[in-house]
Order: sequence, then C-alpha cells, then structure tokens
Amino acid sequence: MTKIKDIPKIDRPRERFLQKGADALLKSDLLAILLGSGIKGKNVRQLSENIIRKFGKNFLNITVDNLLEISGIGQAKALQIASAISLVKRFYDENKINEIVIKNSQDILSLTYDLRDKKKEHLVCLYLNARNVLLKKEIVSIGLLDKALLHPREIFYPATELNAASVVLVHNHPSGDFSPSEKDNQIIEKIIQAGEIMGIPVIDFIIISQNNHYSFYEKLNKQKANIDYVADGIQGTLFAMFETERPSYEIAAEKIRENYFYIPQVKENHLQLHNRRYIGNKHKLIEWIFSIINKECKGNSFADIFAGTGVVSAVATKHFEKILLNDFLHSNYAIYRAFFGNEAWDKNKIDNIIKSYNNIYGDDLEENYFSKNFGGKFFSKNSAKIIGFIRENIEKNKKNLTEREYYILIASLLYTADKIANTVGHFDAYFKKEFINDSFFMKPIDPIDTQEISIFQEDTNDLAKKINADVVYIDPPYNSRQYSRFYHVLETLTKWDNPKLFGVALKPEPENMSDYCRANAKDKFAELARDLDAKYLVVSYNNTYDSKSNSSKNKITLQEIEQILQKKGPTKVFEKNYRHFNAGNTNFNNHKEYLFVTKAKI
Ligand SMILES: C[S@@+](CC[C@H](N)C(=O)[O-])C[C@H]1O[C@@H](n2cnc3c(N)ncnc32)[C@H](O)[C@@H]1O
Repeated sequence: MTKIKDIPKIDRPRERFLQKGADALLKSDLLAILLGSGIKGKNVRQLSENIIRKFGKNFLNITVDNLLEISGIGQAKALQIASAISLVKRFYDENKINEIVIKNSQDILSLTYDLRDKKKEHLVCLYLNARNVLLKKEIVSIGLLDKALLHPREIFYPATELNAASVVLVHNHPSGDFSPSEKDNQIIEKIIQAGEIMGIPVIDFIIISQNNHYSFYEKLNKQKANIDYVADGIQGTLFAMFETERPSYEIAAEKIRENYFYIPQVKENHLQLHNRRYIGNKHKLIEWIFSIINKECKGNSFADIFAGTGVVSAVATKHFEKILLNDFLHSNYAIYRAFFGNEAWDKNKIDNIIKSYNNIYGDDLEENYFSKNFGGKFFSKNSAKIIGFIRENIEKNKKNLTEREYYILIASLLYTADKIANTVGHFDAYFKKEFINDSFFMKPIDPIDTQEISIFQEDTNDLAKKINADVVYIDPPYNSRQYSRFYHVLETLTKWDNPKLFGVALKPEPENMSDYCRANAKDKFAELARDLDAKYLVVSYNNTYDSKSNSSKNKITLQEIEQILQKKGPTKVFEKNYRHFNAGNTNFNNHKEYLFVTKAKI
C-alpha cells in the first residue's frame, strides 16, 4: 500500500493546497486534509475517496451513524466530518437568511409598508440582482411626481452602481386613491423605455394608498393578484407586457438615447462629470435647456463662458462641433482639463496609481498642511491626512505624468474629497460633529470623448472681447455669494500653494471675486452682451430675487436682463418651475428658471 509519505511532496493534498489553493484540489483531497490520517490498510487518500464515492451528492446529509458504518471510521473521525459539514451548512443558511428574495408584489408591499402613512408622495426604488434578491431600497424622490422633473438617470444611476439586474418602483398616493394618474402613466412609460435601453428592466410599478395597492404587473397580467414575477423560469418585465398589450406601441429608442446619453456612459467605480455637488449646476435642467437651444439656435460652435461643473458643455459636445469652456476657478479649470482635454493619457497607469493611493492608511501618515487645517472639520483627521499626502505626491510625481494624467489625478482627488466632505455641499461651513467617518476611497474620473475643445480660465468679460461662437451660453451667479468662497477648499487643494487661512471656515485671501455678485453686476452684464461676438446669446436666470436673505437677493432683475438683451437683438424668454439645489435658508417656493434666447443683430 502506498503511504502518504511515498507520494511526491507537490502531489500531497496539503502541499498542493498551500501552493495552488483549494480550487486546485479534488473533493477527496479536501476531505483527506480534514481527516489528517488514514486507517489500517488504507491511506488517507483512499479512505477519503471511498467516503466521497459512497455518499456522492448526498455528502452534505451524512450523519455520524452513516460514517460509523464505514469500516475503520471511528467516532472521532465521524465527528470531525459531521461537524465540518454542520459548520458549513450553518454559515450558508445564515447568509441565505439575510437575503430577501422578491417573488411578487406582496413581497414588495411588506418592504414598503411605511409608505402608506406618508403625507407626501414618495418614489422608492427596489434594486434586485439576477436572482431577484433585494440589493437596495432607495427613496428616489419626495414630492409630487412629475415626468418633466423626474429623470430616468436618478433611477438607473444607482442601479448601475449596484450592478442591479432589474428594478421595481413603488409610489404612494397620500390622497387614498390608489389608481394610477395620467402623470403616473406617463412616468412609467418613460422609465420602462429607459430601463429597456439600459438593460435594467422595470419589473413592476406599484402604487400604494393607505388601504390598497395597484400593481401594473398584476393588472397587465390579466388581473391576477399575487402573480409571481418569474413564471416558468422567465422573468416578467413591464416593457414586455406593454408590448404585448399594445401592439401599436413604438419605442423611440433613438430619441431616448439622445436625451439620456449620460446613462450609457456610466461606468462602475468611475466618477462622472456631474457626480459633484455644485450650487446652481444645470444638470437636472439640461434636457429643457437643450430642447430650447436645438429649436431656437443654429451653428457649429458653442461657448459655455460661466461653465461651473461643465455639464452644459458635456451635452453641447453632442450637438456642436466646437466647444469652448471657461470659468475663473482653479478647481473647475483642472476638472475641465481632466474631463474634456484631448491630450494623451494612460488609463492603466492612472488606475494603478489610484489603487496604490487606496492602500494608504491615515494612521501611518504624518500630519500635513491639509490635515492640520481641515482635519476634524471638513474631513476626518485620517481622510485629511490621506488627501494632503496624495496631493503632495501628485505634485512630486508631475514629471512622470502627462499634463492630462496630472489633471485626471487632481480631478479624481477633488471629486473624492467633495464626496466625503463633512458639509452640505459647499465649504462655507462644516457640520459640528464629534466624530467624522474615515471614508476616503479614491475613484478615477471618467473622461468625456470630445472633439475640438478650447478651455479657458479667465474673467468672462475679458474673454468675451477675444472669442466668437455661434451660440454663447451665459449662466453667471446672480446674488452676492461668491463661488470662489464656497469652494475654497477645492481651490486650495488644486493650487496647492499652502496659503494662510482665516476664520472658522478656514478660507484663504479672496481671489476670483466676481463682479456679477456685486452692485455693478448689471453694468458688467450689459458690457458682456455688447462685447460678445455671437449669433445667439442663451442666458439662464432664476428668481431667487424675492428671497428673505440679503445675500441671496439677485443683483440683476429679470426686467433688466431682458432690456439689456433686447438691445443686442430680438429676445424670447422661456420659463419653468424648478427647485434648485440649495444648502441655505433661502425660501425657493415658486422658484422659476428662465432661459432667454437672443438672436444677435448683425
Ligand atoms: C451659476 S454657476 C454656473 C453653473 C454651470 N452652468 C453648471 O451647470 O454647473 C456660475 C459660474 O460662473 C463662475 N464665474 C462667476 N463669475 C465669473 C467671472 N467673472 N469670470 C469667470 N467665471 C465666473 C463661477 O465660478 C461659477 O462656476
């Protein structure tokens, strides 16, 4: 009989496990390791093979008595095997218990019971994996549902982040009437089409009231209640049902792709241009703005001269050949160079650098400029140490990076810092907390494919004298709140010149203070309109004018804007009810967003 010591070392189960891992071993080898030794007349391998062969697929149901029937297996070895099996089963069962499998609308109703008593309308999304296990339940919107305001991105962005296979939507009607309204019907159509294009089907849309519910899935399934979402192994989806219910229904796939072109660009673990908090950003108004621009303006070139986040330019790249972006903030300039630049960069190199940054632990680092000033305030001490260390490292490494790579690393750091900042979304103040989480984890940004692009960092009125474009989009600040003061931490992190800081919010000496936030804003706007060499001027304006706080009062009135623009050429004004991202006390009830389109006189 071959003894285990006669087998070459590399073929012995334990050695193989250590060198190649558990997956390289047969089941009998794994059992041999557990048993440790053979019995008289059988080495451990033969004994294990006998056991595996005897019980086969029933192995996980073996009892101690079954094992004792095998000649040579005593109580000790039988207990060893039976306990190992029980241990694995126990953990396996516990994991399964934590899984919530969604079979039908009843499962959804029991998870959203709390919505029945809500006084305001809510839209809740339940994201499921391919086995219909619940991955996450998320409130997507609170307040009246409106097709124009609710964007499929809000529903599908978390789905792509979670790698969800499907989604169920639940909406409450506080009125008590559980039947779908016209608005509900419009919304669900829009969402199921977007879901189909994204490959994340909508399984059901359920409306609940205090005492009742309406499931589109059940209704379209010929009124059967409690019908399972998976039948005969096939996952039902609302899109498929709408199709069969209404054969004449047309999918406007091309149109939707254009409207929501941001969504397909979403890559897991990457930060998109719009994934930042920025006051007055037009991300949610973008469809409205471009529906007007596309109708009212013609041309090949587009200039976004108060570009902020750059989200307007990102959309403009789909409609215009040449794009110009400008903003006087250092952080915005770095972000544009990273996202829109057309210089070379090596994705693997960036991913590897960021991976190495994510292996840094704050506890291992000394204090630095960033952590001394902002640690324990805008960020946890450890997160601030890491941010400061990385920023210094990018600067030291600059000679080994292309310019694009340098800006991509800075932009990735800026976006990560914004994500974890202990603030309402700007750096005018931080939350007073005793304990701020160490949540630093850097993700790379996801650059945008662009064509001809020019990026500037200048005062807009100076720039206006030098440039020309078919369409110029103008979105200045309208109240006294200075962007350079709101985003000073990002400015300091970008410039990295270790300035002396002042006050509770630790701001540097003022820089890039906008005239549009001062009393002479109207004159500056008139000068800008006069100097711009453009076929069309498109101006965004919002009426925070009647706000309670002085700093939020507009420096230019709606009438003044209109008068100035009419001098440049015939002007149309479009308006829309809209609630902006607002971190302060300003009352934005009845808030309106305006868009002026001026066709310049030749
Ligand atoms: C209302 S925000 C623009 C938001 C942008 N449309 C978006 O969607 O993100 C105004 C921007 O103008 C910039 N800005 C203000 N005054 C400026 C000036 N005189 N020259 C250049 N940029 C200026 C600010 O830094 C800010 O980013």
